[in-house]
Amino acid sequence: MKYFINSTADYHQHDLNSLGWELTVCNSLDPVNSPCRKVLASSYSFGKHLYNFLKEIIPFHDIRSILEIGGGMGYLMRDFLTLNPQMRAKMIDISPFLLDKQKEMLQSLKVDFELSDILAFPQTALSGFDLAIMNENMGDLPTLVAGQEKKNDFDRNNVLIIEKLEYFNKKYDLSLGLNENEHINTGAIEVVEKLCLAGIKYIYLSEHSCEAVVPEHIKPYMSFQSPGTPEMISLKGHKEFTIKFSYLQKIAEMLNYKTRRGSFADFLPLNFNDKVKTALRLATPFNDEQEIIRQFVYDLYKYEYLILIKGDIE
Ligand SMILES: C[S@@+](CC[C@H](N)C(=O)[O-])C[C@H]1O[C@@H](n2cnc3c(N)ncnc32)[C@H](O)[C@@H]1O
Repeated sequence: MKYFINSTADYHQHDLNSLGWELTVCNSLDPVNSPCRKVLASSYSFGKHLYNFLKEIIPFHDIRSILEIGGGMGYLMRDFLTLNPQMRAKMIDISPFLLDKQKEMLQSLKVDFELSDILAFPQTALSGFDLAIMNENMGDLPTLVAGQEKKNDFDRNNVLIIEKLEYFNKKYDLSLGLNENEHINTGAIEVVEKLCLAGIKYIYLSEHSCEAVVPEHIKPYMSFQSPGTPEMISLKGHKEFTIKFSYLQKIAEMLNYKTRRGSFADFLPLNFNDKVKTALRLATPFNDEQEIIRQFVYDLYKYEYLILIKGDIE
């Protein structure tokens, strides 16, 4: 087994000075006049859509403390706290630039901020939260890139890597490393284990998924691969990876969490009108709006969410 560890930590800590290059679904739905809002059944921001969806699953009247990890511009938390001002929030982010943006966005609300890599954050300090949110950022966490090693790095890292994979395989009955061409989302795996072991009652996670499939009714208009193994995505200044959600789901279930999983389209229902159909059918879009719609609709089905509910909760 030969692996190279892909980390985005340096990029997020030192180089990132805009999220414009990486337009998340949350950010693309934020402007009131966004073309993305117009292709949905209701014209809300991302946080409002998500809150309305989660409130059918999570008893928000019982949620006193909420943690968001990697909250980007802070839009999602702004919406959650506006809809439910009784919650006390904490934002943890590795990026000083984005943490400052969150401080600006959330300045009038009850929020604490901490600059930290979630993987370095103590598990015990997570246990007081009722709800944890990680939106569109699991793929930023470290990934073992198969078939590559940096010169001289292999021996040093190899023992630790093998030990880590053996630990996860044994504890959660996984087969990490069995296919030596498969990249492994070790950061996402570690963070799910950490949040579950901390005993957080409700956890929401989302990211581009390597297991997402295009639904039958969309197939005439759009296609993408569902390889089942993490895919590399090259972005400005860093690379990230799609997530193998079945592993995260299995770990959470073995740690006694109930799970619910689906695509963003479950809570961002598409208004599948002629404008959308035309934009999707074109081999080459005629204008920027059609290009934006195509990317947005792709994201609605390529992104998966995973909701974890602690087992002893009815
Ligand atoms: C693609 S952005 C997503 C932002 C936001 N959640 C959204 O949906 O628009 C990734 C976010 O995760 C943060 N992040 C990346 N790696 C992290 C880590 N190891 N620990 C904490 N935050 C991290 C980034 O700084 C950024 O805020």
